[in-house]
Formats: sequence, structure tokens, C-alpha cells
Amino acid sequence: MSKIRTIIAATLALFLSVSCNGVEKNEKSMENKGKALVVFFSHAGDNYAVGNIEVGNTKIVADYISEIAGADQFEIVTHKYDGMAYTPLINLAQEEARKGELPPYEGEITDLSQYDTVFIGGPVWWGTYPQVMFTFFKKHENDLKGKTVIPFTTHEGSGLANCVEDVKEAFPGANVTKGFSIYGHDVRSGKNKVEKWLKGLGF
Ligand SMILES: Cc1cc2nc3c(=O)[nH]c(=O)nc-3n(C[C@H](O)[C@H](O)[C@H](O)COP(=O)(O)O)c2cc1C
Repeated sequence: MSKIRTIIAATLALFLSVSCNGVEKNEKSMENKGKALVVFFSHAGDNYAVGNIEVGNTKIVADYISEIAGADQFEIVTHKYDGMAYTPLINLAQEEARKGELPPYEGEITDLSQYDTVFIGGPVWWGTYPQVMFTFFKKHENDLKGKTVIPFTTHEGSGLANCVEDVKEAFPGANVTKGFSIYGHDVRSGKNKVEKWLKGLGF
């Protein structure tokens, strides 16, 4: 009888320790990621490799992230590039980057302090994010201290280019992770790649 009691007690102890470990692990990972936000810029219209698109490549990735990770969104919006053909846009973007311009964007995010994890994404333009994203970076340079910042890009060959380094430089107090990139022409059929990446981060 006492042998049976010992076996039951041992089985219960094993079960409890496994489930407690499971809960602890989940709670821990939730605690680390907390509430998530995706900040992104994306240009709809005439673009390289995908033609004239109604929804920008990066916006599609941002939407996947929101759906999978339950993240809120803040889209950096400017109408400066509306309706531009690809070649003039390339030239304008190069000029902006050369001069370090900080074009204004519309609207503003009210409370960044509520977020623990901030995804930052955009297209690669001339080797880094578009200048309008740097306007956001400058405005919020002190607002991401202690937060986890996860950069991502869409691109046509440059990968992450200089984006992770530039985010690190813009937010010195943040914990900037290694980043994710995907070809712009792949995003429409690439939800599984985004899912895999987020799963690897524990989302
Ligand atoms: C002005 C401009 C500059 C670009 N520069 C690069 C670049 O340096 N490297 C690269 O791989 N792709 C470059 N591209 C391609 C974009 O990064 C790519 O098409 C991206 O997916 C566009 O995302 P979006 O639709 O969200 O704006 C550039 C595109 C534009 C319009």
C-alpha cells in the first residue's frame, strides 16, 4: 500500500514540476516580450521588381507581425512620394540621404511607454531606412530605453543593409536584436517565413 502511495506521490510530483516549469517558461517569455508595437514605413506605388503596388511590401510584413504577435501598429506616413515614378523617387531618396534630411510625417504616437517590444521596419533605400524613418528616430530617441527593439527590412538584394546599426545608433539605451529581412517581391507569398522568424523569437 505504502509502495503504491509512493508511486502516486512521485507521479504527482513529476506532473506538477513539468506543468509548473511550463507555466513559468510561458510567463517568463510573455513577461520579456510584453506588449508589442510595430512602427513601419512603406511606400505604395511604382516600385522595383513588383511594379505598381497598391499596398507596400513592408506594410504586408507589418500586418503579418500584428496578426501573429498581436502587435499594435504605428505607420509613419508621408505624402511626399505619392504618385512618383520609380526613377525620380530613387533620385529624390538619394538626395535626401546625402543631405541627411528629416522629412516630416503625419500624426504622432501618443504613448510609447506602454510597449515592451517595438518592431521597426521599412524598405531599404540606398543602404538604410528611408530618411522619414530617421525623423521618427530623432523624435523618439529617448523613448525606447530599456525596450526590446527588433528591426526588419524588405529589400531587393541588400538584406538588412545598415539598418540594424542605424537603429542601434538611434536608440543607444535599447536592447536591439539582430533583425530580419525579406525580399520585397517575396512578401506576398512569404507569410510562412515571417511566422518562422516570429516563432523563433517565441511569439
Ligand atoms: C528609393 C528606393 C531606393 C531603394 N534602394 C534599395 C537598396 O539600396 N537596396 C535594396 O536591396 N533595395 C532597394 N530598393 C528596393 C526596396 O527596398 C524594396 O522594393 C522594398 O521591398 C520596398 O518596400 P515598400 O513597398 O514597403 O516601400 C529601393 C527602392 C526605392 C524605391
